[in-house]
Amino acid sequence: MLSEEKNRLLTQVGPGTSMGDYLRRYWMPIAGIAEFDEVEAKPIRLMGEDLVLYKDLSGTFGLVDKHCSHRRADLSYGFVEEKGIRCNYHGWLFDENGQCIGQPYEDTANPKNPLKAKCSIKAYPVKPLSGLLWAYMGPLPAPELPVYEAFTWINGFVEVVTSDIPCNWLQCQENSIDPVHFEWMHDNWSIRQKGKLSPYAPKHLKVAFDEFDDGFVYKRVREGQAPDSAMWSVGRVFLWPLGFYLGEHFEWRIPVDDENTRSVTWFYCRVPKEKEPYRQQHIPHWEAPIYKPDGRWIESHIINQDIIAWVGQGKIADRTKEALGASDRGISMIRNRFFEELESVAQGNDPKGTIRDPEQAKFVKLPIAERKAFLDGKSLAEYYSHPYYHKRLRDFPWNAGQPERVRKAFCEAMGVDMKGDPLPDMIREPAE
Ligand code: FES
Ligand SMILES: [Fe+2]
Repeated sequence: MLSEEKNRLLTQVGPGTSMGDYLRRYWMPIAGIAEFDEVEAKPIRLMGEDLVLYKDLSGTFGLVDKHCSHRRADLSYGFVEEKGIRCNYHGWLFDENGQCIGQPYEDTANPKNPLKAKCSIKAYPVKPLSGLLWAYMGPLPAPELPVYEAFTWINGFVEVVTSDIPCNWLQCQENSIDPVHFEWMHDNWSIRQKGKLSPYAPKHLKVAFDEFDDGFVYKRVREGQAPDSAMWSVGRVFLWPLGFYLGEHFEWRIPVDDENTRSVTWFYCRVPKEKEPYRQQHIPHWEAPIYKPDGRWIESHIINQDIIAWVGQGKIADRTKEALGASDRGISMIRNRFFEELESVAQGNDPKGTIRDPEQAKFVKLPIAERKAFLDGKSLAEYYSHPYYHKRLRDFPWNAGQPERVRKAFCEAMGVDMKGDPLPDMIREPAE
């Protein structure tokens, strides 16, 4: 349970708020690069600020104020040039640093034009990495953008999926340190959705939480679990401060404002050994729906189920009314760490896990329960005999609504047809 004041402290993200200023000190994935395959510019709200994200004709990305410094027109309707974005109202041109580099009539009327230098707009650095666009909105110099180990893997099919979630970021991110919900929200609820009343999924018998440089891990023991299971020895990663990492995928909860969050996720699926070496030419992006036609939430896929928990807690969860138990120890740990971090940063320290050394940032290893499986790869036959991976070939289990174009690209990469059965050239005779 938190006081109203402490709840506000953790949940408010606008400029000038403690938590807002704290989170701005991290690079955040804000969009898929492929979102700019067809559009030049899009409005984007982040941390309570209205901005425009664009890709100019030279391929440079910019994240700038939504409003032009001339008379405040909406730059998301501007058009891009070789360098920068041009306001569609009177043609003022801005580069990715927010500098005004063109004012057509003013430049004609006064070739010396002193006005231009005074008309820059707010701009934040943007970097592309592994199919994602990353933004940094904090004080400069920015820390290094961490290249997580998974971003260096080849021989896999990657897709970026986003959704707009109408609730505060923290309740989404608290889900990243909540092992027991998996048993109920995903396992047992899915069993019930299939119309079965029993049996219930294996119970959690023990949970544990540890802190490390890049966040926290949660560990679990469930009924029937092998004593040496990696779910206990390694666990899952609460990636500080906004992410969740499960080996083959990342989820980030990016604050839009106090009452909205952008879910940005990155999925990797290793191709079968028969398809290696494989290099993906284009990382697709898709927007996952969260509503059914009747206005209720979609409940069929894992992240959709999570979203139902998050939005169900209210626009901003009222933590003065909760009752935390033994399963929530990780949640208390991360809240306390946030409070300590806010104080530490106020004293001038760098926030937890930020990297200043470019060499260190080039390869950031995180705990991965299934590390060996990722590094060794699998034949198609091993996919079909695996309790989880055979399902991954048949359907995308995380979000509802994967578009056919992405499913098709995935199937081609994996060597299967649209139903997930092997393509004829993938069926090999067993070796003598
Ligand atoms: S309002 Fe943008 S150029 Fe005039
Ligand atoms: Fe979940």
